[in-house]
Amino acid sequence: MTEKLDELIEAVQDGAKYRQIHIPLVRQIAAQELNKERSWKETVKAVRNKLHQVGGAYQPQTIHYELLAEKLESLPKDMLSLEVQDFCRETMLLHTSTRERLPILEKFFEQSLAGFTPVNSLLDVACGLNPLAIAWMPLAQNVRFLACDIYIDQIEFLNAFFAHFGINGQAFLCDLTSEIPQDTVEVALVLKTIPCLEQIDKHIGLRLLTELQAQHLLVSFPAQSLSGKNKGMRDFYDQHFQQLIAEAGWQAQPHSFTTEEAYLIHK
Ligand SMILES: C[S@@+](CC[C@H](N)C(=O)[O-])C[C@H]1O[C@@H](n2cnc3c(N)ncnc32)[C@H](O)[C@@H]1O
Repeated sequence: MTEKLDELIEAVQDGAKYRQIHIPLVRQIAAQELNKERSWKETVKAVRNKLHQVGGAYQPQTIHYELLAEKLESLPKDMLSLEVQDFCRETMLLHTSTRERLPILEKFFEQSLAGFTPVNSLLDVACGLNPLAIAWMPLAQNVRFLACDIYIDQIEFLNAFFAHFGINGQAFLCDLTSEIPQDTVEVALVLKTIPCLEQIDKHIGLRLLTELQAQHLLVSFPAQSLSGKNKGMRDFYDQHFQQLIAEAGWQAQPHSFTTEEAYLIHK
């Protein structure tokens, strides 16, 4: 069985698009699909499809992190300079999730985190390229900024980004469906992440929110599908989220934006 699983992972990673994904996640999905008694070709395809749904779908074009890292090196060290802000915006366009947030970026964090800022420590789970929005977040100057996702090249780039600007930050690989980070922080960002993870584990939502060691959780859901259609998504996810937090006995403060619905929970 282990041999077959290793062989399947290797076959999946024959495709360049899948080589940068954190292996424990590939292994977990491969193990699920191996049990379904399909042909080898169909099994490889099924694993790739799932990996695409949870990750690749948000990166419609290959992101050339090596080029971004080169550009980063040539930038001034001041995060507030216009040149740096342009770079951050342009880079955030490359990931669908941050691209959708750009039109609301000026107010998203300022409004939804108002009241207990500046934030001294923060964990951004399934972060995508959201750490590039640091300059738009109400953070303390010396904030401890942790971030995780499943792409090896993305995590390396985020660490280079933190280093370049002297941010006390660390990005790391993590498959949230098998491991929930236990760092103690003031705020955890769980942005547009729950529907994505539920494609692998439908009970992950409440477990993730409960086990994160954060005083406050900023949780959000998309207000439109990846294809840009609205289809009542806001209401659908609102009902789903209200059920989740009712089980935990929490109250959440909603913040509505055109492309995203956010909720602040004080745990
Ligand atoms: C909808 S995007 C949200 C990105 C970011 N939070 C934002 O709002 O800009 C979902 C993210 O979850 C990441 N992801 C998918 N499966 C994951 C897993 N099992 N563990 C951690 N991150 C995962 C994807 O790579 C992607 O960056």
